[in-house]
Amino acid sequence: MSASPLLVLGIESSCDETGAGLVRDGRLLGHAVASSMDEHARFGGVVPEIAARAHVHAFTPVVRAALDEAGLALSDIGAVAVTTGPGLSGALQVGLTGAKGLAYALDVPLYGVHHLAGHVAADTLEHGPLPDPCVVLIVSGGHTSLLLVRDLVRDPIVHLGDTLDDSAGECFDKVARVFGLPYPGGPAIDRTARQGDPHAVTFPRPLTGPRDDPYAFSFSGLKTAAARWAERHRGTTLPVADGAAALQEAVADVLTRKAVAACTAHDVGTLVVVGGVAANSRVRTLAEERCAAAGITLRVPPLKLCTDNGAMIAAVGDLLVRAGAEPAPLDVSIDPSAPLESATLHPVARPRHPVAAGAV
Ligand code: KG4
Ligand code: ZN
Repeated sequence: MSASPLLVLGIESSCDETGAGLVRDGRLLGHAVASSMDEHARFGGVVPEIAARAHVHAFTPVVRAALDEAGLALSDIGAVAVTTGPGLSGALQVGLTGAKGLAYALDVPLYGVHHLAGHVAADTLEHGPLPDPCVVLIVSGGHTSLLLVRDLVRDPIVHLGDTLDDSAGECFDKVARVFGLPYPGGPAIDRTARQGDPHAVTFPRPLTGPRDDPYAFSFSGLKTAAARWAERHRGTTLPVADGAAALQEAVADVLTRKAVAACTAHDVGTLVVVGGVAANSRVRTLAEERCAAAGITLRVPPLKLCTDNGAMIAAVGDLLVRAGAEPAPLDVSIDPSAPLESATLHPVARPRHPVAAGAV
């Protein structure tokens, strides 16, 4: 096991945020994020081509800003970690290409990181190493999963349950659109809900019946119920704040109920809630209340580390370096739909166009 505390640069570019973070020995030294969110707003969702082009613009300035914040130089970097999946193909390719260029030029190892493992590791930057075992609830724009995590970089990640259809973030984003709220929908629902009554409407709590899978999620029926409720108000003023508060309550209720049940059933004392939806105020409050009542320690990263960033990828890279993990080969590619099985992605595919020495 390598003990040398290398400075790890982490690069994130899987969706609309270009992130660079610097982590050494579990400590965050600097990070910077650029977002192309405003460029997508008028389309009501992320446009992959625009996101990829924005990453090209932002890559170098974001790496520079992270180094400046840390008071470090490019030559201090001892390893580069980069999101290789899952995410938007073109967006991932920009980040990986930039990361490869840096790793090659600096002659340092490169690590391919699973984006969702990054969300999990984000919490270690604030609250220290994760206890083994812990239950992790990942709630992002693309994923909703309950995981049993032991050693994040050494052990396989066990899925206790996943969403059968939409993710919680997708549910917020799509319902916000129906409610006429701006993109991105999650933060807009959160803001609007503050003025509403969560009990004004009763939305369903999917898959919470006695015969349902206790750890599986489903949000598409909830999304439809919210859309039907909005339709019933056609011709009148939609009480958006009440709808937003009731939707947020339903999502927070289901997420936290199942997460706490998973901890209790598996006799695990710590719940970690991560991903963009972990920024939701009601999810945070309800998780706090329910964990306190059940005697479970709750860990949630600070808001700026919940949504996509480079620090979380550097955090996984730092754990991989300290675990003595094998770096990625320089012909490593992206995997846009990589399932979350381990923290690092090791594509085994051979290069389609092998490079022969001396070939012209
Ligand atoms: O993890 P993330 O930044 O990107 C992905 O990896 O998907 O998550 C983005 C998701 C979006 O669906 C966004 O609407 C949601 O997180 N989100 C929120 C809040 N902030 C971000 N959802 C509810 N309340 C929030 N405050
Ligand atoms: Zn994410």
